[in-house]
Amino acid sequence: MIFATILAGGSGSRMGVTEKPKQFLTLGEKPILIHTIEKFALNDKFDEIIVLTPKEWISHTKDLINRYIPDEKITVIESGNLRIDTVKNAMDYIKENHDSPDNIIVTHDAVRPFVTHRIIEENIQATMEHGACNTIVPATDTIVRSVEGDFVDEIPNRAELYQGQTPQSFKLERLEELYAKLDENQRETLTDACKIFTLNNEPVAIVEGEVSNIKITYPYDLKVANFILKE
Ligand code: CTP
Repeated sequence: MIFATILAGGSGSRMGVTEKPKQFLTLGEKPILIHTIEKFALNDKFDEIIVLTPKEWISHTKDLINRYIPDEKITVIESGNLRIDTVKNAMDYIKENHDSPDNIIVTHDAVRPFVTHRIIEENIQATMEHGACNTIVPATDTIVRSVEGDFVDEIPNRAELYQGQTPQSFKLERLEELYAKLDENQRETLTDACKIFTLNNEPVAIVEGEVSNIKITYPYDLKVANFILKE
């Protein structure tokens, strides 16, 4: 089975809005989260779409889904403290309810509402072929490394650098096996699910992202998102 998991468990602190997490803010005529779920609901390859939100937002999320995209394939469950814990909650839910060695999980940030049909299709394809994939775009700015933040330590070759987007997709059984092998320190410091594969020298295929597949992080990004939507 193929699962889409929409990660909507963050608080959006950098957005500076206090009354609701940023994924519930309005973009155009509906919440950002709804725009994102719609992209997955339109793809009939998904057996189930799992939306993960903080416990206190589950009922509101269900109401929004009933209003905008009533679809029996969509389930809302509780997210985790860290983003990686939210991914783990999705993994556990699928294992408990639909355990199978062939399961594929496509994980996507709720706050990237402009993901395209092509990106989603290529994620599914690349995961079937290679076991894991990451959606990335070439770095446009020069990326500078500084350990302490005071002086520049290194300027890596930009031609070899990319910026990570989502989706990130995996064969679920392998993701679980590799996750179980992580030690406590690795689990606590892990910010990226693909890193579970690279830490174990397992291949992560590249899916070409889009510059427009932005993550809404700051108020400025919401302005850009409104502009993209009008286009
Ligand atoms: N996310 C999640 N569970 C968490 C933390 C984040 O599902 N415990 C999700 C967010 O809801 C978002 C995505 O991961 O869709 C990308 O995270 P980010 O933009 O960093 O979200 P926030 O943590 O909400 O933002 P901030 O760091 O500004 O608080």
